[in-house]
Amino acid sequence: MYRTHTCGELRISDVNKQVTLAGWVQRSRKMGGMTFVDLRDRYGITQLVFNEENNAELCEKANHLGREFVIQVTGVVNERFSKNANIPTGDIEIIVSELNVLNAALTPPFTIEENTDGGDDIRMKYRYLDLRRANVRSNLELRHKMTIEVRKYLDEQGFIEVETPILVGSTPEGARDFVVPSRMNPGQFYALPQSPQTLKQLLMVSGFDRYFQIAKCFRDEDLRADRQPEFTQIDCEMSFVEQDDVINLFEGMAKYLFKQLRGVELNEPFIRMPWADAMKYYGSDKPDIRFEMKFVELMDIMKGHGFGVFDSAAYIGGICAKGAASYTRKQLDALTDFVKRPQIGAKGMVYARVEADGNVKSSLDKFYSQEVLQQMKAAFGAEAGDLILILSGDDAMKTRKQLCELRLEMGNQLGLRDKNQFACLWVVDFPMFEWSEEEGRLMAMHHPFTHPKDEDIPLLDSDPAAVRADAYDMVCNGVELGGGSIRIHDAGLQAKMFEILGFTPEKAQEQFGFLMNAFKYGAPPHGGLAYGLDRWVSIFAGLDSIRDCIAFPKNNSGRDVMLDAPGFLDQKQLDELQLKLDLKDKE
Ligand code: AMO
Repeated sequence: MYRTHTCGELRISDVNKQVTLAGWVQRSRKMGGMTFVDLRDRYGITQLVFNEENNAELCEKANHLGREFVIQVTGVVNERFSKNANIPTGDIEIIVSELNVLNAALTPPFTIEENTDGGDDIRMKYRYLDLRRANVRSNLELRHKMTIEVRKYLDEQGFIEVETPILVGSTPEGARDFVVPSRMNPGQFYALPQSPQTLKQLLMVSGFDRYFQIAKCFRDEDLRADRQPEFTQIDCEMSFVEQDDVINLFEGMAKYLFKQLRGVELNEPFIRMPWADAMKYYGSDKPDIRFEMKFVELMDIMKGHGFGVFDSAAYIGGICAKGAASYTRKQLDALTDFVKRPQIGAKGMVYARVEADGNVKSSLDKFYSQEVLQQMKAAFGAEAGDLILILSGDDAMKTRKQLCELRLEMGNQLGLRDKNQFACLWVVDFPMFEWSEEEGRLMAMHHPFTHPKDEDIPLLDSDPAAVRADAYDMVCNGVELGGGSIRIHDAGLQAKMFEILGFTPEKAQEQFGFLMNAFKYGAPPHGGLAYGLDRWVSIFAGLDSIRDCIAFPKNNSGRDVMLDAPGFLDQKQLDELQLKLDLKDKE
């Protein structure tokens, strides 16, 4: 037997027991005639003691143990003289009588401790070592528990898990596909699924009624902290449902997961905020509502007073930061620099302080009388000690997005975005389409299978941009945790949708014929949602990036630096696939 106990298991009640442990040497230190070794495994750390007086040879052997050696020890559990209250096994130690080195180890390139000295790149290159660290490992344990609870909840609700293929066909909407060449079909390519969307709809046509899958999805898009090219969805679909049915069931699931995994009771129903309000008050379709600081539009009050920047603006709006009038000129300049950063792109920022006597002191006093400034103050409901920050621009949507960044930054600076506080909501009534500058046409905002709101169907011909969809996103702390919609189940309406999206009937048939044909064979009304598993785990674990809850993630250039992938193919493989490369950027 390699071990009788794990390294996280022994307590004061085990004193005097003879035990055998196995694990990795976290560190060792020699103090006089004693050598102490911290032995680590997945479950914890146990202190080993080698005493020169008892067994000089054994102690000498212990002195030669390097970091991360894999060892097995036998000894007796002893009560510690100086206890360590920071670890569960801190009351005991093992007085070792036998030491067996199972495997030596090279010195690791970084220390495998909670606060490692390893930078991101080196930790990713040696991810298998990084995963030995307790904090990274606990994220994966949380992820494991999450999938168990998800399966439990959905199983109890009558959902069945069905696997759908990874090698599928390319679809033109959405992000770019990752493609895989087919040797047996030269010149043809599979695509990896961006989501199992169409397949789960086909399962509804098959009568599966309540489907789910913990599904790997692949999208070739620009990466961010909450985006990986390969990620996991909790993908669900239901038949004979309306929007409220889907939202209620998955709100129930959200609350269940918060309770099981974080011990947090979310008793109130989640707010349902129309997309138009989310954009108007927060400048984002994923508002962080842990704090108020809603936008106030100031076009009526601030335009027409001779301040050219505002007079020519298509949007003037601001936020009121409670109690922040004490911000210094330096802090305000730093905020101005923040909004002027190229990623945000504002031209400048105007500020106004409400002073102790209620007067408003602004950076624009020469253009605005105190009377106008008081109107502005009233519009914000501002009080003495508050700070008002205003942005303007000639594109309302862009300016709102800039103001959103400023609001979030102020939320950070004022400590209003506590990771242990959770504010969930549904954003509903998304527009059906959005204009794509790149494509020069309307694109589906969610996807082309989304059902328009019944009352907006007449607008499909006259004013498609005004059509709203039966689509909804679940947002928590400013992160989109999931999204879904009621689907079109009528072949005619689906064909019309493709027409608006600029598909010829032939192209629509070629790309989506399988779905439109299926709809001709008795498709039930259906709808669903997909939650992003990685994002859920990061919210629960308080992580800044979803990378930290993925065992082997990609870096920001989409590379796996440990496997050194992607990589070039051998000529033999290219020949088999009948592929010739014509690289534009030849090395
Ligand atoms: P959507 O594209 O909104 O919807 O994706 C659903 C959820 O998946 C997560 N997600 C991601 N997580 C990590 N990295 C990514 N690159 C990434 N992209 C998306 C998000 C998101 O809310 N088929 C539809 C769902 C449906 O309509 O049922 C879909 O894929 O948490």
